[in-house]
Amino acid sequence: MKLSPVFDALAPYPFTRLTAAKQRLAAEGIELFDFGTGEPREETPAFIRETLAAALEPVSGYPSAEGLPELREAIAAWASRRFGVVLDAGTEVIPTLGSKEAIFQMAQVLGGDLVAVGTPGYPVPERGALFAGRQVLELPLLAEHGFLPDLDAVSADTWARVGLLWLNYPNNPTAAVAPLELYERAAELAREFDFVLASDEAYSEIFFGDEPPPSALQVADRTNVVVLNTLSKRSAMPAYRSGFAAGDAAVVAALKRFRPNTGTAPQAFVQRASVAAWMDEAHVEAMRTIYRSKREVLLRACAAAGLEHVGGDATMFLWLADPEGVTPRLLEQGVVLAPGDFFGPPGEGYARLALVPPLEVCERAAGVIAAVGSRA
Ligand SMILES: Cc1ncc(COP(=O)(O)O)c(C=O)c1O
Repeated sequence: MKLSPVFDALAPYPFTRLTAAKQRLAAEGIELFDFGTGEPREETPAFIRETLAAALEPVSGYPSAEGLPELREAIAAWASRRFGVVLDAGTEVIPTLGSKEAIFQMAQVLGGDLVAVGTPGYPVPERGALFAGRQVLELPLLAEHGFLPDLDAVSADTWARVGLLWLNYPNNPTAAVAPLELYERAAELAREFDFVLASDEAYSEIFFGDEPPPSALQVADRTNVVVLNTLSKRSAMPAYRSGFAAGDAAVVAALKRFRPNTGTAPQAFVQRASVAAWMDEAHVEAMRTIYRSKREVLLRACAAAGLEHVGGDATMFLWLADPEGVTPRLLEQGVVLAPGDFFGPPGEGYARLALVPPLEVCERAAGVIAAVGSRA
């Protein structure tokens, strides 16, 4: 069989390395506290589940790639309330099947030689670029730059070869939040060099500071700018697969041409449940309160263990500096963190803690973490 040569170039998905360690610890009877993978495990609010159930119909046709008008309207209305922007639901919004597939496929929709991605980072933009036959330009996200890329360190010749620039703020894994100025500068470069700025804002609603994080939708000129967001984290709906792309009508039009080829549109009942989710903020506030409680418990325990959170104040992640190599000792006690180099070489010396287990589990884990610290 002639598999795509891209497979040869890819390292195994890093989390498979943790699976073996978890199996060994479980076999030894050690209780596992899994802060490794970032999958939300909070309950999907009941009103969303009920809306989905009520929307099931006897005949289930293929969903159209454009999405239901009422969902596009609900997304535009949410963006208006949240970011103060006006989006035309007819031409500037398209629902996606969660955001991962849309992130992966974006490089197939756009041209150019290079796809620029932040590192450390969520691996999907890079993998999508490689499967689309593009080269990857890595933009280091360093602590001394607040985990933001130095866009002005890239030469004009290099920008001229870029078809797609990915930003992801609030950031996985560093939890950093970007100021609007970063989006403005990136959008300016996108116009000058005619590439697309794609802003993955999957964690925009999980924040703990006083100010909600801004969106690339807020730039003064949205030419060549597209934003992706999702209900997976905001509304604890990872299984539903519901997100959107919104921004420059020309980018959305290209997605409308491309996506019928792959048949990736959320089912109508998921779209109807998504309308309910985007229209409600009370459950999102409750979601933030839950993450905030877990975060406070674990921040204290990690500090006691010599793991300082050096990242930002958003997302469901702590980005912990681990100069003493505490992470392997925690693993032996059943506390699983993701080593920072899973997300790219600049992640070396850090660990990512995902605030996903329930609060009472976080509280028990905090005791184990602090005890490991006291034995150091
Ligand atoms: C940075 C980032 N973007 C996008 C996604 C995709 O989420 P979904 O496909 O559930 O919308 C994730 C999921 O972990 C993520 O961490």
